[in-house]
Amino acid sequence: PATAIIVVAAGSGTRLGADAPKALVGIDEHSVLRHALDQVFQAAPAQVIVVAPAGHEGDAESELRAAAGDRVELGRVVTGGATRQQSVAAGLRALWGDVETVLVHDAARPLTPAAQIDAVAQAVTDDRGVLPALPVVNTLKRVSGSAVVEAVDRSELVAAQTPQGFPRALLEKAYALALDSGAEYTDDAALYAAAGHPVVHIPGSPVAFKITVPADLERARRLLSPERG
Ligand code: C5P
Repeated sequence: PATAIIVVAAGSGTRLGADAPKALVGIDEHSVLRHALDQVFQAAPAQVIVVAPAGHEGDAESELRAAAGDRVELGRVVTGGATRQQSVAAGLRALWGDVETVLVHDAARPLTPAAQIDAVAQAVTDDRGVLPALPVVNTLKRVSGSAVVEAVDRSELVAAQTPQGFPRALLEKAYALALDSGAEYTDDAALYAAAGHPVVHIPGSPVAFKITVPADLERARRLLSPERG
């Protein structure tokens, strides 16, 4: 396929307080990673690189096989790094064939719908990066120590989600630049924009939230439970 999806799953998930790496924690009978991959494989056919926590490559491989079914030849597992940026870089090095568009997706957003993945892939152009985002609903303040300095205009802000999509050639160059400079970026869109390329946003989805703390895991469990309690 002309598209690859790098699913970064190598985080430890310290804030979740579980024994296992976050991606391998169960939501229901299936793990966070398995749910994320189920949606990835329901999207348009793509090469799928799972970036696994060191020492858990075998678990990631099992989840990949289970989600991929008869498309298992499209998938590959590699070992992640100490930061998310290093994990994405490891994923980029594992691409093979004529991939033109690369999507980078957090395994920690397991309920991200396949339609969101497809929409991002379709919005990528020769030079343009794409991220899904939601309007900001909270009232935000700029602070300095304990002082509230000012209200921040919400209309100028969005909350970024994943997958974030990019033309492969420019994303690889942007990663090479970041490696040279030693800079660490918040997300792939920031790294890509720092290399001078445009990024646009498209509508995200409320269910594409990131699992960070135990309450997020509970929310995912409720959304997946039959009663939708
Ligand atoms: O920690 P956080 O949830 O913000 O991480 C976002 C995503 O990046 C997660 O899916 C996590 O597994 C991944 N990650 C990674 N390698 C790291 C740190 C985070 O693949 N070293």
